[in-house]
Amino acid sequence: MTGTENPTTTTTTTTTDPDTAALESDLREGFFADPPTLPPRWFYDEKGSLLFDQITRVAEYYPTRAEAEILRARAGDIVGAASTVVELGAGTCEKTRVLLDVLAAGRSDARFVPLDISTEMLFETARALEQEYPGLRIDPVIGDITALEGPLPGEPGGRLVLFLGGTVGNFSESQRDGFFRMLRGIMAPGDQLAVGFDLVKSPDRLVAAYDDAAGVTAEFNLNMLDVIARTVDCTGLDRRDFRHEAVWNAEESRIEMWLRAVREVRIDFPTLGRGRTLAAGEGIRTEIARKFEPHALIDELAGHGFGGQAVWTDAAGDFGLALVVVD
Ligand code: AVJ
Repeated sequence: MTGTENPTTTTTTTTTDPDTAALESDLREGFFADPPTLPPRWFYDEKGSLLFDQITRVAEYYPTRAEAEILRARAGDIVGAASTVVELGAGTCEKTRVLLDVLAAGRSDARFVPLDISTEMLFETARALEQEYPGLRIDPVIGDITALEGPLPGEPGGRLVLFLGGTVGNFSESQRDGFFRMLRGIMAPGDQLAVGFDLVKSPDRLVAAYDDAAGVTAEFNLNMLDVIARTVDCTGLDRRDFRHEAVWNAEESRIEMWLRAVREVRIDFPTLGRGRTLAAGEGIRTEIARKFEPHALIDELAGHGFGGQAVWTDAAGDFGLALVVVD
């Protein structure tokens, strides 16, 4: 358009970046609550996704290795007769490859749908998988696992949905309830669901897994502050004012990650018209990671119409995988 065209048609639009809008809504909901909370999704910018990948390789963080052991041992049982595998929160798909080997070898119409919130990582992963599995159709989807819109890709009854890593532990009880309800709504009878979940164990090991000696998890946690400072208009938000903390909450059977203010901090969000002062020692909760007793999750799944279950653990009994089918 040029300046000589009819000026009366000129329109002014203010576009808000979808991430900014989503974060503003999360801030309104959590940051002014008691205690202040921020949802884990803001860990996962490109740097955060790489940091998480690094966490999976630190000595103290056992869940990834334990789950990989289960997947290796049970790949055939898990993939079964599925024609489409959908992975929620796919990341680098490192553990998934053992399942894709079975899927790709088994049939020529097989399809893999990795879904993730981190665009860069998702497309990089999809590109790599296309190279490694030339016979497999790869359909990456950018999305928030808590807000999926159905129907799922693939033949009803022929899908396998993967929700690995113990991410189910990041939900509160009511979020988990809503999540299983949503999944049941977009899945069809015969579709399978595999859920990885961390098991209750000694608090020392649990805390160490979320506070590794090398400080990778601390960096992962603090990175959220950089993501927020970059995504929304704010003043007074500085990672140097906070330290990482991981605590075991026995009552709720969960690890909690906190960012604790090391001095009094005043943070303002002009676009929200709100701010908050945190006293020295006051914390922001950035993540909960619920640890389950072996059958607690299975009972919940059964209550949502997922039956015919198998539950496997690694040899050490550190981590579990539930495989259920829509009734
Ligand atoms: C990717 C959500 C499963 O809760 O164990 C790792 C994330 N946070 N260390 C977990 C995480 C800190 C991880 N999940």
